[in-house]
Amino acid sequence: MPKLAIIYASGMGRTKKMAETIAEGAKTVDGVEVLLKDAYDTSAEDIRDADAIMLGGSTYNYKLIKAMDPLLKQMKDMDLKGKVGMAFGSCGWSCEGIPTITKRMQAFGMRVIEPGLEIYQVPDKEGLEKCFHAGRTMAAGMKN
Ligand SMILES: Cc1cc2nc3c(=O)[nH]c(=O)nc-3n(C[C@H](O)[C@H](O)[C@H](O)COP(=O)(O)O)c2cc1C
Repeated sequence: MPKLAIIYASGMGRTKKMAETIAEGAKTVDGVEVLLKDAYDTSAEDIRDADAIMLGGSTYNYKLIKAMDPLLKQMKDMDLKGKVGMAFGSCGWSCEGIPTITKRMQAFGMRVIEPGLEIYQVPDKEGLEKCFHAGRTMAAGMKN
């Protein structure tokens, strides 16, 4: 069964809420295993086992949230070539989080779906619907 890992780093729970809603959408697709984890709790095995990885991180002080650093460092030493990736996250104004994650995943040799899913501040109903659909679309695509 194909595996989709949804991993987030979130300071105030907004990107976490996005991740949870992406996972809800993905879980509506039968035949795809969905893993939802905080970046701090993610093991190398979680990454290695995944066919697709959706990585979410918000922006603080014009940079991707620092809580994503240890995981990205770990991923740098892994063979991720050919895995599918997509970035998501909440931010306030400058929004460096998504482009930073996207560039890192591309550098790892992953096939990255762009432009990623960006939401301003607290995700509203419409934003959460986008998250749900992004999860469902990714999971459905993995079955092809
Ligand atoms: C101290 C602080 C610094 C922030 N710096 C930025 C920033 O430089 N650029 C930006 O786009 N958003 C910035 N934000 C906004 C957050 O990215 C935004 O509130 C986001 O919704 C937080 O999501 P999270 O709960 O997943 O961490 C900052 C927020 C705080 C509290």
